[in-house]
Amino acid sequence: MPTKVEKDSITGTETTGHEWDGIKELNTPLPKWWVYVFYVTIVFAVVYSLLYPSVPGIGGYFEGVIGYSQRDILDRQVAEARAAQGQYYDRLEQMSPAAIIDDPDMFRFAFAGGEAAFADNCAPCHGQGGAGVQGGFPVLADDAWIWGGTLDAIHYTLLYGIRHDNPDSRTSIMPTFGGEFALLSRDEIGDVADYVLSLSGQEHNAERAGRGAEIFAQQCVACHGENSTGLQEFGAPNLTDRIWLYGGERAEIIAQINQPQHGVMPAWIDRLEDTTIKMLTVYVHSLGGGE
Ligand code: HEC
Ligand code: HEC
Repeated sequence: MPTKVEKDSITGTETTGHEWDGIKELNTPLPKWWVYVFYVTIVFAVVYSLLYPSVPGIGGYFEGVIGYSQRDILDRQVAEARAAQGQYYDRLEQMSPAAIIDDPDMFRFAFAGGEAAFADNCAPCHGQGGAGVQGGFPVLADDAWIWGGTLDAIHYTLLYGIRHDNPDSRTSIMPTFGGEFALLSRDEIGDVADYVLSLSGQEHNAERAGRGAEIFAQQCVACHGENSTGLQEFGAPNLTDRIWLYGGERAEIIAQINQPQHGVMPAWIDRLEDTTIKMLTVYVHSLGGGE
């Protein structure tokens, strides 16, 4: 062990005196500022552990001197939010959907609530944001309405459903024109299908469509309307707009005339709060195509 301090000839730094196989260790202590910061963090940790919940123990933990609890804070915040929303809910109960839309504050609240309720209850059938799902689940974000896009019509549809077992549900069933008790022959169904294709300007056989027009006038206008744009009181869709529940190919149209599909939508009156149904009404109406 050398007694006097030895300096490294290259760097000029003192050595610690340790040497391994001719390699000497330089004495480069931690910077002072670093050491002090380190001490401060130790003191901080001790003080923090005393003030705040820290050391776990059996059947509990050290709760800290100041009694801080995130759970309490959350409970308090939730209670505050409930109280604040309570006023909104009280007002929602009194207001019609039309009045809600006229009140910017209430509208914002209802829209947000409706959006959340839609994602939970409606999106599985109608798609995210009411984008629709092929096979009979209509788009709610356009302005084509089967049963009506006014606030009142939407509200009614939501309360009582469509072809649901609720006694006030919207009903109306397109007749089965083919099958066992055929109202129309195969050829007639083919003809009227070509006429339906022509209504939305799709490729069709003009001769068949000409014959189909007469059949349509007799069998179909009662529900689909004189100008084929649909009648909301029967939930009969517009056949001129190329928006299809069940597809616009000739075969799909023939299938619908032959053996119609009937869309069913649940009644929500017994499943959701009145206020939630109002919020949903406002939300759906504002998706883009409210009447
Ligand atoms: C089980 C599937 C299903 C669920 C869930 C569902 N719907 Fe529907 N909904 C339908 C079907 C099918 C139709 C079309 C019925 C028809 O063919 O006339 C429809 C039609 C509608 C209509 C009428 C559209 C028009 O053009 O007139 C509205 C509005 C509507 N749904 C809103 C909602 C809302 C809001 C919810 C959530 C609370 C919801 N639906 C949940 C299946 C569903
Ligand atoms: C009693 C009323 C009624 C009559 C009559 C009727 N329909 Fe319909 N039609 C409807 C209803 C209601 C729907 C929608 C079914 C649904 O929503 O599930 C519909 C749907 C359709 C569709 C499917 C539209 C789509 O968007 O996919 C076609 C095509 C159609 N009808 C053609 C006809 C033709 C052609 C006739 C005459 C031969 C006819 N309908 C007679 C009520 C009627």
